[in-house]
Amino acid sequence: MSNTELGGLIARRIALTGPISLADFMAEALGHPRLGYYRHATPVGAAGDFTTAPEISQMFGELLGAWLAERWLAMSRPAPVRLVELGPGRGTLMADALRATRGVPGFHAALDLHLVDTNEPMRAAQRSVLQSFTSTVPTAWHERFDTVPEGPLLLVANEFFDALPVRQFHRTSRGWVERMVGIDENGALRLALAPGITPFAKLLPEAAVDAEAEICEAGRALAAAIGNHIARHGGWALIIDYSGETAGRAASLQAVRRHQGADILDRPGETDLSAHVDFAALAKASGVASFGPVGQGTFLRELGIAERSETLKRKASPEQARTIDAALVRLIAPDQMGTLFRVLALGDGKSAPPVGFSDLPSSPDIPSDAT
Ligand SMILES: C[S@@+](CC[C@H](N)C(=O)[O-])C[C@H]1O[C@@H](n2cnc3c(N)ncnc32)[C@H](O)[C@@H]1O
Repeated sequence: MSNTELGGLIARRIALTGPISLADFMAEALGHPRLGYYRHATPVGAAGDFTTAPEISQMFGELLGAWLAERWLAMSRPAPVRLVELGPGRGTLMADALRATRGVPGFHAALDLHLVDTNEPMRAAQRSVLQSFTSTVPTAWHERFDTVPEGPLLLVANEFFDALPVRQFHRTSRGWVERMVGIDENGALRLALAPGITPFAKLLPEAAVDAEAEICEAGRALAAAIGNHIARHGGWALIIDYSGETAGRAASLQAVRRHQGADILDRPGETDLSAHVDFAALAKASGVASFGPVGQGTFLRELGIAERSETLKRKASPEQARTIDAALVRLIAPDQMGTLFRVLALGDGKSAPPVGFSDLPSSPDIPSDAT
């Protein structure tokens, strides 16, 4: 399957230099400077390949904004403070967060905004959605987190870490071997196990034959950079992403195109690839205090999403009220985004613990099929 221009380039590289890791394949498929999925596509939303929590309801960004403002108060209102979003997509989360925190005295005056995104069409959408704030809040775009200036940090990342490249391993009777991308006799991309034991074996768990494992080196490196920034300047980071109990101990890499599952090697550059995020590995790599992960449902309930939805419904038409109810269910119900998505906070450990991480049992009174 090398059925795109990018697929052809990857197949040619493999023909010249041999099989590549899944992480290298994913980095090319998503990040190739001209043809990578996250360089040219507008993936988020009904017309794209998938939808995300901030696109489901304004409540998501509003509550995250309140969380960030509360952390700023808990840090004794540093100024300036670097408000960073990794992978802001259409800018919806940040616009809702800024709108909801306009009334927090001194908060916006203390901020400068740093948006980390490689995708030019997405950056254009962010510029337009955030226009009313960027005239007063100094704003800069970055390709990478590393270029965010020194200083106290407030960072948010929703569905960002799941797009970072992962390596995959399979345990054979000989030990752990890496799953690679090679080509078949027709020059089409195909998956195959490397012939020898991987040097990554020492990072992988003891496991039975036929077990799977995944490592996201880029995610760990980024968590370490964020932790380092927090350790030097103070700050908080909130990371929300797909994750299951078995993250890191299963093969979770998946492909989505037009809201449907696809083969991970099919149409590289036109297909979204993502993997479950191993939050324990991120927390460890950060080297700073961590809270969670807790389910997104628990987190949003503790932040008051039910109350917020009631407030919104008071001014809503019956049809709008039904939309608000449906969004609430989608964001927090255990069989929807409430447990599959999880939330991790990283912080300087000097300020009071953040709200949202008491790990309440999931509420039985949330209907999962309300419309
Ligand atoms: C799945 S979308 C999530 C968008 C948004 N956070 C939301 O919740 O709607 C991922 C975002 O991260 C950006 N992105 C993906 N990989 C990236 C990378 N390696 N470096 C910088 N930005 C990246 C994409 O362009 C996109 O804006």
